[in-house]
Amino acid sequence: MVFTVAIDGPAAAGKGTISRAVAAHFGFAHLDTGLIYRATGRRVLDGDTPEQAARALKPADLEADGLRTPEVAQAASRVAAIPEVRAALVEFQRDFARREGGAVLDGRDIGTVICPNAEVKLFVTASDEVRADRRYRELVEGGHDVTPDGVLADLRARDARDSGREAAPMTAAADALLLDTSDMSIDAAVEAAVAAVAARLAQG
Ligand code: DC
Repeated sequence: MVFTVAIDGPAAAGKGTISRAVAAHFGFAHLDTGLIYRATGRRVLDGDTPEQAARALKPADLEADGLRTPEVAQAASRVAAIPEVRAALVEFQRDFARREGGAVLDGRDIGTVICPNAEVKLFVTASDEVRADRRYRELVEGGHDVTPDGVLADLRARDARDSGREAAPMTAAADALLLDTSDMSIDAAVEAAVAAVAARLAQG
């Protein structure tokens, strides 16, 4: 069975947690496409040109340590605005999406550009303050030296770049189900996402 779940939204809205939970629930494979851009950004920080970095990317690069730092997040957002970088990464994502057994991909342009025919599309969002608070806690837990205001400013800068760029900007697909997790527990958000996928699977 080929079945694609596309989950988009801004940073720290909860799409990673929801994607992993949906994939585990249905036994689907999961690809965090942000890691592809983070791994590309990492290579650029190490001296590659953005296009070289995207073309040379290997699946093992997505497992590298240190991809979750604020510095790499900003580098990812910068390389992600370059059309040639995005073009070099399309095929890998589409192949993953159409693999046998079902796939969940989360990112910014999955429902709009990578998989416009995905069987289920979700756009997960939350207020800036809620997202910044979640990300701040994660970073502090990971031992990073950050401030709440700094994290909020970083998130806003990244959102502005990701949604303002010309190449595949972050935006909800017209047919995406919107999920605002600002006042939702993670369990409730996962339940809503699982229900949307189950309803589509039941249609056959
Ligand atoms: O989801 P994330 O925070 O790990 O993503 C890091 C950056 O990568 C994000 O700021 C924008 C970019 N990105 C993108 O442009 N398209 C995607 N499908 C996923 C991420």
